[in-house]
Amino acid sequence: MRILSGIQPSGKLHIGNYFGMMKPALSLQHEGDAYLFIANYHALTSVTDGAQLRQATLDVALDFLASGLDPEKTVFFRQSDVPEVTELTWLLSTVTPMGLLERCHSYKDKIAKGIASSHALFSYPVLMAADILAVQSNIVPVGRDQKQHVEVTRDIALKFNQRFGEIFTLPEPSIQETVAVVPGINGQKMSKSYDNHIELFGSPKATKKRVMQIVTDSTPLEAPKDPSHCNVFALYRLFTTETEQAELAEKYRLGGFGYGDAKKALLAVMDRELAPLRERREALARDLDFVEDVLREGAHKARAVARETLDQARAATGLA
Ligand code: ADP
Ligand code: TRP
Repeated sequence: MRILSGIQPSGKLHIGNYFGMMKPALSLQHEGDAYLFIANYHALTSVTDGAQLRQATLDVALDFLASGLDPEKTVFFRQSDVPEVTELTWLLSTVTPMGLLERCHSYKDKIAKGIASSHALFSYPVLMAADILAVQSNIVPVGRDQKQHVEVTRDIALKFNQRFGEIFTLPEPSIQETVAVVPGINGQKMSKSYDNHIELFGSPKATKKRVMQIVTDSTPLEAPKDPSHCNVFALYRLFTTETEQAELAEKYRLGGFGYGDAKKALLAVMDRELAPLRERREALARDLDFVEDVLREGAHKARAVARETLDQARAATGLA
């Protein structure tokens, strides 16, 4: 079984990315042939400064390696080191109906958020399809907002196969339903573009500041509280066992336990999970040659697979 996922280097990764995509993708690295890449071609649709893109790409590499990506198990690479995907994008775009792209929520959402409309932003799902189909991935672990793009990929693959023969494997999205949408500090979906995120590798001081800003209701300290309607509790759940969740829920219901106390409890469990990752990240940041070697080696492997797929697609279309 082949598994592939990617993430854009378009800003600092946050807790939503961690639970929605990184952890599920990293846990699958033991289940099959895993590929993970940094989608820097995709990021060009929103990041327009070269130095910033380079830095963000390195940051994502460090974040994943610190979070447990094992380069022995996962082929880890920069998208732009596998330029075969851009040629494949063209081949796929010839079988992609406009209507399929016009229906994509992500494009409409991005335009609504003020990202400049461009051909690249519109055809973004075709490049994503090429990423997935180039390695013939069976499973694509992503957050729920990316599910539609994987469905588009299936449609494109199906059309191509119908027209030119069975070249592509049809992929399935894999969504971690228990944490499908991680809420941000205001209770909306956590997203860097809503500025409601908590950075995965923020300093302890910055993390504390962010946690203290989590929006809560005005129930007084003494009164019983409902954990199921609390943004702090929703985040606490992600970092804890069921027993710990039940214990905190009980404190909420008994009253005499304020949201300030809940935030302290959240900070403690966040630190428990993230402090070791932070340490690993600091060590990796002192060994950038290692990080570069991992990405180069990953690109070498991914390229060989993508080349093979592209050659088949070229032959089927009559280009070769
Ligand atoms: P952002 O919304 O901050 O720009 P991206 O769109 O770059 O994040 O998402 C990268 C990956 O992380 C995707 O697979 C996406 O589904 C997942 N993801 C992002 N935000 C969340 C969230 N709040 N909850 C769950 N998964 C998320
Ligand atoms: N579009 C994805 C996102 O914004 C990133 C991505 C690009 C991706 N290509 C992919 C994810 C292929 C999975 C598979 O998060």
